[in-house]
Amino acid sequence: MKEKIQELRNSGLGKLEKLVTTDQLSDWHRDFLGRKGELTLLLKQLGELPAEERPAAGKEVNRLKLELQEAFDTNQDRVRQQQLQQELDSDDLDVTLPGRPCSPGHLHLTTQTLRKIYRIFQEMGFQVYEAPDVETDEYNFQLLNIPEYHPARDMWDTFWVNDEVVLRTHTSPGQIRAMREYHPNPIRVILPGKCYRYEQITPRSEHQFFQVEGLTVGRNIRLTDLIGVMTEFAKKMYGQQRQIRIRGSYFPFTEPSIEIDMSCTCEGAGCRLCKKTGWLEIAGAGMVHPVVLSNGGYDPEEWNGFAFGMGVERPAMLKHGIDDIRYFYSNDLRFLRQF
Ligand code: DAH
Repeated sequence: MKEKIQELRNSGLGKLEKLVTTDQLSDWHRDFLGRKGELTLLLKQLGELPAEERPAAGKEVNRLKLELQEAFDTNQDRVRQQQLQQELDSDDLDVTLPGRPCSPGHLHLTTQTLRKIYRIFQEMGFQVYEAPDVETDEYNFQLLNIPEYHPARDMWDTFWVNDEVVLRTHTSPGQIRAMREYHPNPIRVILPGKCYRYEQITPRSEHQFFQVEGLTVGRNIRLTDLIGVMTEFAKKMYGQQRQIRIRGSYFPFTEPSIEIDMSCTCEGAGCRLCKKTGWLEIAGAGMVHPVVLSNGGYDPEEWNGFAFGMGVERPAMLKHGIDDIRYFYSNDLRFLRQF
């Protein structure tokens, strides 16, 4: 019996070491440790032994069983490792290659500029109010004190959707919408958005562009408040050295109306940007016209406020020395990636 056990040990372990595939491993397991395998046969033969030899032989067979099981486990690990290595070696897959870089986009220059503007006005207590791009003649013109046939309509070349509907030519109609929504509370908002004009497209003019409108409505607001806000804006946007100056102007929805210029970054030396004047125009503005206030639902005897409107692309062009506004909408990555 002892010999049989030794024989089985030798042949089992010997074969096990030569196995190279997992299929061979499971065959081996079936042949040696399976229900009808060699070991089971051996156990059955124990019954034929004389009674006094059985316990010792039984012990031996059990030890062999454990031994074979352990050797099987070890070899199973070995074979799996080898197989994995073989697959890695033979395949075209190179696991050491660096991954494909993903190229995340970034914010468009216009969006970056808008967000900077939001932040500056937010610090001064302005909320962002959004109004629709497609407006009625009533909001875009009439309620802003520009009646039908008023000559001031010539200031805005208009895309008409039909006789009553337009693509907004400026962000000012949002003033009426904000007033009608906030009435009877004071207001301090900026109204950003895209505007549309029926214009020849040239390096200096696009038929779509962004504006940021500002509107305050309160009880004792003065022109100097407007000047203070615009001065703060110019300094935060373009640097502490900036100064502003105002010129009288005309807009139907403000009285008085002004235009706001900012001192050029050339510090008066005279450059191409400011056409050697030392000043750059940054906004139209004024005190909200009484007619506009009452169209918004506010009694002009009790309430007043200021408003302003400025471009977004033009200042970005000045800042970055961009000489053609059409780049903003042409989706040329060589342009966009620079900002
Ligand atoms: N809406 C004017 C435009 O597009 C800009 C403007 C001027 C807005 C004066 C204002 C303002 O709110 O007070 O040309």
